[in-house]
Amino acid sequence: MKSIAFIGTGRMASALISCIHKSSISKSIIASDKSDINLARIKKQFKIKTTADNKEAAGNSDIVFICVKPQDIDAVLDEINDVVKNQLVVSIAAGIRLKHLENKLKNKRIIRVMPNINCLVGEMAAGFSAGKYATKEDIKNVSGILNSAGIAFFMKEDLLDAVTGISGSGPAFFAYFIYAFVKAGIKNGLPKEVAFRLACQTAIGTGKLLMESGITTDELIGMVASKKGTTIAGLNALKRHKVKDILTKTIDAAVKRSRELGK
Ligand SMILES: NC(=O)c1ccc[n+]([C@@H]2O[C@H](COP(=O)([O-])OP(=O)(O)OC[C@H]3O[C@@H](n4cnc5c(N)ncnc54)[C@H](OP(=O)(O)O)[C@@H]3O)[C@@H](O)[C@H]2O)c1
Repeated sequence: MKSIAFIGTGRMASALISCIHKSSISKSIIASDKSDINLARIKKQFKIKTTADNKEAAGNSDIVFICVKPQDIDAVLDEINDVVKNQLVVSIAAGIRLKHLENKLKNKRIIRVMPNINCLVGEMAAGFSAGKYATKEDIKNVSGILNSAGIAFFMKEDLLDAVTGISGSGPAFFAYFIYAFVKAGIKNGLPKEVAFRLACQTAIGTGKLLMESGITTDELIGMVASKKGTTIAGLNALKRHKVKDILTKTIDAAVKRSRELGK
């Protein structure tokens, strides 16, 4: 069982710690942060060891998760550089490429993860890539940790921009659809809370049905839409307004921005 350090104990780190805690992947977790408030919260919530010293956390663990904002990562890498020896370093910072991490931490084993916010409820969809010194065992260990918080796919780093577009930014796009569904429900007479729960449950159920049954999206559409029925009327409106093209452009814009930020 590997010991794990978390540097930065904000939303994403707290969610990952919570999932690791529940799955009993590791009982040895230490967390460091410059925010006393976050440290106190995490200590109370998970009863893990905490420290204000990033070096102490990184120096005494097998795997070091860096969970600070991208603009804060260089300061952390410089700080822990001399205590990282045989540890695996895992960065979840959006847009920070492996090349940059490897330039900072020379010859070190590094993995880069693109997580998503649904980690907060154990339903993360993530992609991750390995630097040139990371081993097969490192990939297996990180895969185990990430899969305890949802699902995670190992892939080439270039593909992480597409992951950013679909699942990194995706929760915001789905939240936007749910907002529109709720507005439309209210407009058609439903109480807000009922419209909200119906829209959310429909989104959850549709994803679950597709993942668990193995039916395709086309097959599911065919199962719901009968000739001259209500669903066809709605689908025709989607086609008339070229919503598929708009969604493609939405994802493309996010992927493009991710590529720009990674340069
Ligand atoms: N949120 C998302 O949807 C999402 C999705 C994909 C990837 N990510 C990535 O996940 C990472 C963490 O995001 P988050 O939303 O969890 O951030 P967050 O809530 O702001 O947490 C970051 C924590 O790190 C602390 N920190 C900053 N500099 C530090 C330092 N030098 N040493 C120790 N601790 C330090 C911060 O303290 P202060 O508050 O005092 O600065 C804060 O407590 C980011 O890199 C982000 O790109 C997030």
